[in-house]
Amino acid sequence: MNGIPTQSFDALVIGAGAAGLFYAARAGECGLRVLVIDHAAKPAEKVRISGGGRCNFTNIHTRPENFISDNPHFAKSALARFTPQDFIDRLTRHDITWHEKTLGQLFCDGRSAAIIDMLVGEMREAGGELRLGTTVGDVSRTADGFRVETSGGVVGARRLVIASGGLSIPKMGATGFAYDVARQFGHTIMDPRPALVPFVFEGRDKSDFASITGLACPVVACSERAAFEEAMLFTHRGLSGPAILQISSYWAEGEPIRIDLLAGLDAGAQLKAFKTQHPKKSFASSLEMLLPNRLVNLLAMRGDIPGIPRMADMSHAAIDSVVDGLSNWKIKPAGTEGWRTAEVTAGGVDTAGLFSSTMESRLVPGLYFIGECVDVTGWLGGYNFQWAWASAFAAAQA
Ligand code: FDA
Repeated sequence: MNGIPTQSFDALVIGAGAAGLFYAARAGECGLRVLVIDHAAKPAEKVRISGGGRCNFTNIHTRPENFISDNPHFAKSALARFTPQDFIDRLTRHDITWHEKTLGQLFCDGRSAAIIDMLVGEMREAGGELRLGTTVGDVSRTADGFRVETSGGVVGARRLVIASGGLSIPKMGATGFAYDVARQFGHTIMDPRPALVPFVFEGRDKSDFASITGLACPVVACSERAAFEEAMLFTHRGLSGPAILQISSYWAEGEPIRIDLLAGLDAGAQLKAFKTQHPKKSFASSLEMLLPNRLVNLLAMRGDIPGIPRMADMSHAAIDSVVDGLSNWKIKPAGTEGWRTAEVTAGGVDTAGLFSSTMESRLVPGLYFIGECVDVTGWLGGYNFQWAWASAFAAAQA
């Protein structure tokens, strides 16, 4: 497509997700004429499906430590300037009610569509325009900004805001567009990888775990870099549940993960007391007061715990050794379920190339990256939307 831009705006936003729509409203309120383009037929589809349809829109415990990035300091500035309370205040103005589910995670009382309506409504009220079902082609610089070819014509803009997200869930329209634009303008990309994603196993581990599909138990899931005390769920392909999704964001291919199956229990003392009271019971059956019996049977079958001895035959040292094994249960995933089910993309546009206060490129004035496409990845529990709001707000104030 040739020609000079036939339409010009102060800011052109690519991606009508959480970050792009929030940016458009805030920038519009600051007086900018904003156009938002998305190739999808509907805006903010990930907001719609998030939180089981009720959108876990923030976490009241948000701190920079809840985010993974090559530069752990990068998110501090934006997070400090737009807090969970700032987003809650917006919901209040729109009569959107909410509740805390657990661990500071805030969900809508009703459907997530209320948040999409708020985002689109605020954008329109601030004078923004939204074009859906519009594809984006060549992007280039001009003397006073950017020239972008789209299926709706050539658009010129002083600012180009990339809010097209990461690679997770391709069937919802995820693309690597942000990374392509970033590379085109000389930015580095930190290797994108699926995060907040279930683990899959092969061979015996896979069939063992499949035999107790649906069983959930509280654990501490640990890697070299982090530990999460939440529920773990056995699935027909491997392991899932919040503890596993959280630790997957820190996992590297080939690494084992360590699971404390006795999280928060004084298991050694309880088993020794049980031995005194029930010396004739089997060791495996005694463990059933601590763990679900289907799991105990599986662990005995795998040889992870001794199945046969009576309590009377277990020395205190032997009990301690089994307790230690269950507190440090090591398993090596074959991989993850990948982009198909990952809630987010870890990695992305290297923060070294962006100003942390505005999300603007250090290499190309007027070019901004916000939301999930940036190498800032939140934990499970509302942190990723908080990053979308905060990074968009920072860019809009620029
Ligand atoms: P987002 O992906 O939302 O938006 C990007 C937009 O860009 C999309 O509309 C897409 O169509 C468009 N786009 C992509 N490529 C394009 C191209 N080439 N041309 C034009 N448009 C293009 N987080 C959280 O905090 N709480 C939660 O409850 C959940 N729950 C959840 C559930 C599930 C199933 C998923 C997959 C994810 C979550 N998340 C979440 C994560 C959260 O959804 C995610 O971090 C944010 O949506 C990221 O917002 P962005 O606006 O950056 O990208």
